[in-house]
Amino acid sequence: MPPPAAQNAARIRSGPERCAKLPALMPSPVEKVPPLSIVILAAGQGKRMNSSLPKVLHPLAGQPLLAHVLERAATLQSASIHVVYGHGGEQVRAALARDDIQWALQAEQLGTGHALQQAMPAIPDDHLVLVLYGDVPLIDPATLRQLIALAGPRALALLTVELPDPTGYGRIIREGGAVQRIVEQKDASAEQLRIREGNSGVLAAPAGLLKQWLARLRADNAQREYYLTDVIAMAVSEQIRVSPLLAPTAAEVLGVNDKLQLAELEGEYRRARARELMKAGVTLIDPSRIDIRGAVTAGRDVTIDINVVLEGPVHLGDGVRVGPNCVLSKVQVGAGTHFKPNCVIEQATIGARCEVGPFARVRPGTVLADEVHLGNFVEIKNSQIAGGSKVNHLSYVGDTTMGSRVNIGAGTITCNYDGANKFRTEIGNDVFIGSGAMLVAPLQIGTGATIGAGSTITLNVPGGKLTLERGRQITIDSWQRPTKRNKDQ
Ligand code: UD1
Ligand code: MG
Repeated sequence: MPPPAAQNAARIRSGPERCAKLPALMPSPVEKVPPLSIVILAAGQGKRMNSSLPKVLHPLAGQPLLAHVLERAATLQSASIHVVYGHGGEQVRAALARDDIQWALQAEQLGTGHALQQAMPAIPDDHLVLVLYGDVPLIDPATLRQLIALAGPRALALLTVELPDPTGYGRIIREGGAVQRIVEQKDASAEQLRIREGNSGVLAAPAGLLKQWLARLRADNAQREYYLTDVIAMAVSEQIRVSPLLAPTAAEVLGVNDKLQLAELEGEYRRARARELMKAGVTLIDPSRIDIRGAVTAGRDVTIDINVVLEGPVHLGDGVRVGPNCVLSKVQVGAGTHFKPNCVIEQATIGARCEVGPFARVRPGTVLADEVHLGNFVEIKNSQIAGGSKVNHLSYVGDTTMGSRVNIGAGTITCNYDGANKFRTEIGNDVFIGSGAMLVAPLQIGTGATIGAGSTITLNVPGGKLTLERGRQITIDSWQRPTKRNKDQ
């Protein structure tokens, strides 16, 4: 190999020759992709939910429907995201306050075409517009990417869906295979109602043309609404290409109109997340009995038993075992840790090779280092517990910093609250606390201290010694057990 200086010289020499082969102003071989603006229609009332909560705020997997749509929209590279809101307006805005959303008010709900029109003034004519629905939460970004690729400055792309029962959906009218228009359920003839290809509502179209078409919409239909779907026939009449894309799965375009559909989609979501985990190598004892809400990741050889609820972000390290009936919410877990049945763990970091439960409760702010053991009926709150320490039975540990290899006896309580303020307990390494101790904070317990069972400790404890606080045990020789009184007397 030539020395670096020689290599550089060779590079410099070959540079101008290579450039000389290129024409000075070569046109780009790829057509310029227009910038993308996303509009989410979310102004509808959702009458059939029979609820005072706006439809798009109903939770699916613990998140508002609209939040799911936004999360998926955010994975596409877009210039802007617009949400058309109306019903329950301020409540919707407050629930989804995000800097990257531009809000467009639709004061009166006059139809999907009218709704889209409210967002259009903020979108430049040379953008491509992707229309999503706030009540269609499971749309797959990969499908959206395919759809966007079919649209262009003179091409509209429409996401359609084959359904066994398309009742309620607009029907796709094709002639010789080419899409001609969409007819809404309420305007369709008996023959058109037999068509099983429905309109998902999702479409991508050039902004400039959309603006022209929307301005020409008329509400001369069964519902007296301005239908967005009418732009399809307008595009066809102007020789704008209309490309249909059949959704790969029906589930991703299913909308939520009532509580039944909401529960069905919750099931779809749950099954999809369970499949992802199993594909990643997780063993689910029964995939139909797990609930996964939000981002959950897992290492190798993880096993999850039945009736477990995981609320993301959750990460389970290699070899973690989660027993039946556990709830893990916003938790990071190190490799080899075992949760026995019925544990509730919330906003905590759990180290490797810990044993937790059965019936343990770990509350926010808790950090367990490696090889910590928490046993039954133990509650830990906002505490840091170092490696190898054990709290095995019936204890409350709150606002505590605990060293390594500490043993907390059954029924020990850190008394952290005086009714007005909270105080911390600091426990050094290798401390042994006897059963039934009351540790009244603020309190420091020195390294290697031993505390006698049943003590109420209110003063700092020196390390390396036995400290106890007890009344003297006495025996009363003359004492006699009471006897039952005769009721007749
Ligand atoms: C719409 C489509 C239909 C499609 C179906 C798929 C039209 C005219 N019809 O019918 O072809 O098969 O979706 O689910 O587009 N919205 C507003 N403002 C309004 C009206 C609606 O923001 O004035 C929003 C809703 O919040 C919802 C979406 O638009 O997110 C769809 O509205 P919805 O009333 O459910 O339309 P569909 O009758 O289901
Ligand atoms: Mg609908």
